[in-house]
Amino acid sequence: MFDARTACVVVVGAQWGDEGKGKLVDVLAERADMVVRYQGGANAGHTVVTGDTQFILQQIPSGILHPRVTCIVGNGAVLDPEQLFAELAALEAKGIGVQGRLFVSDRAHLVLPYHKLLDAASDRSQKLGTTGRGIGPTYEDKYGRRGIRVGDLRHLECARPVLAERVERANRLLELLGSGERASFEQHLALLEAWAPRLLPLTADTGLLVHRAVREGRRVLLEGAQGALLDVDHGTYPFVTSSNTTAGGAAVGAGIGPTLIHGVLGVVKAYTTRVGNGPLPTEASDPAGLRLRELGGEFGAVTGRPRRCGWFDATVVRYAVRVNGLTGLAVTKLDVLDTFAEIPVGTAYELHGRACEELPSEVGVLDQVRPVYEVLPGWRRPTAAARKLGDLPAEARRYLDRLEELAGVPIRYVSVGTRRDQIIEV
Ligand code: IMP
Repeated sequence: MFDARTACVVVVGAQWGDEGKGKLVDVLAERADMVVRYQGGANAGHTVVTGDTQFILQQIPSGILHPRVTCIVGNGAVLDPEQLFAELAALEAKGIGVQGRLFVSDRAHLVLPYHKLLDAASDRSQKLGTTGRGIGPTYEDKYGRRGIRVGDLRHLECARPVLAERVERANRLLELLGSGERASFEQHLALLEAWAPRLLPLTADTGLLVHRAVREGRRVLLEGAQGALLDVDHGTYPFVTSSNTTAGGAAVGAGIGPTLIHGVLGVVKAYTTRVGNGPLPTEASDPAGLRLRELGGEFGAVTGRPRRCGWFDATVVRYAVRVNGLTGLAVTKLDVLDTFAEIPVGTAYELHGRACEELPSEVGVLDQVRPVYEVLPGWRRPTAAARKLGDLPAEARRYLDRLEELAGVPIRYVSVGTRRDQIIEV
């Protein structure tokens, strides 16, 4: 993905999240100097397997597992310090040091306990099926211009009255939402006081660091979380997350101009999954869907919830290609399809008997589309040991060719297992 002309590359999910971005970033980070998280927070769960150790990173970029790589939590991300500290402790326990190579933007907004209480209380009535990590309420406060940012920890005396007002406001909202829970000012103040000395040494003007790195010709990966169909503008609204998960958000959230970005890699599973509520046109509610879940280990990395499974949806991926400006695709979990005799692919939609080429903007309409399927022959042979396209059975190569044709962008990587080495570079 990196060459002389593509030094700054975005990696995004091109479905509903959980496409395997963590593994791709981990593989690409081997050739990178810097990895930046630019949106979302501890709602993401990036799973990376190194040797026999599995890491699930929610706040820290997956690149941290490579000792040479500088990692950044950018201004567009929301930061849950307790989660960050837990991940730091887990890394340290496994001998991975982060000294001098992990930086957090002082412009990033803090996720506070009252955001989590509000998330739970809102979701009881809204029923979006959020991850409960306080993401929506933190972004609400950011855009409502009442957020508390990492940099505010430098001035706790000024933050104190602000915090008192915010806790009081959160408690009024909790009452309005019918929740019996209440936030405590003292608990929040104690947390800010405890976080300040641990977080401030990691704090930096991270946009400046990323800008300099790209300008100096270093290889920078901007690591997206969730997926295009969960983008607050382009996703299946309101069943979305509260940030711009698409590549446009990468410039804003990393703190650089869009002209510094050279390429966008979209990650897709060889089939489709979604966790939480909302439309999923190619969902397989039959035994095949359950088989995909079992074979693919499709349970949420953050919440443990079973993921809803279905077939590859080309309308969704073509849409993701367009709204992200994808320049390449990485197809993951091809091996999960190894035992299927036939593999349906959703090539288009029909709406009330007519062809529907583009993804409808309303979930009410998306709920009514009927996918048009093309059934491709399976390969019924293991693919986990393949390291080049030529190692794959002919039917698997044909399957990938068809996905590429339907998506309209070249496939650059194919992942055939969870381990680092189980990857084919095309
Ligand atoms: P929130 O991001 O916790 O507010 O949740 C909003 C929606 O996005 C819910 O449907 C979640 O299940 C979904 N979501 C959030 N983060 C992820 C992720 O990392 N993978 C998959 N789905 C996610």
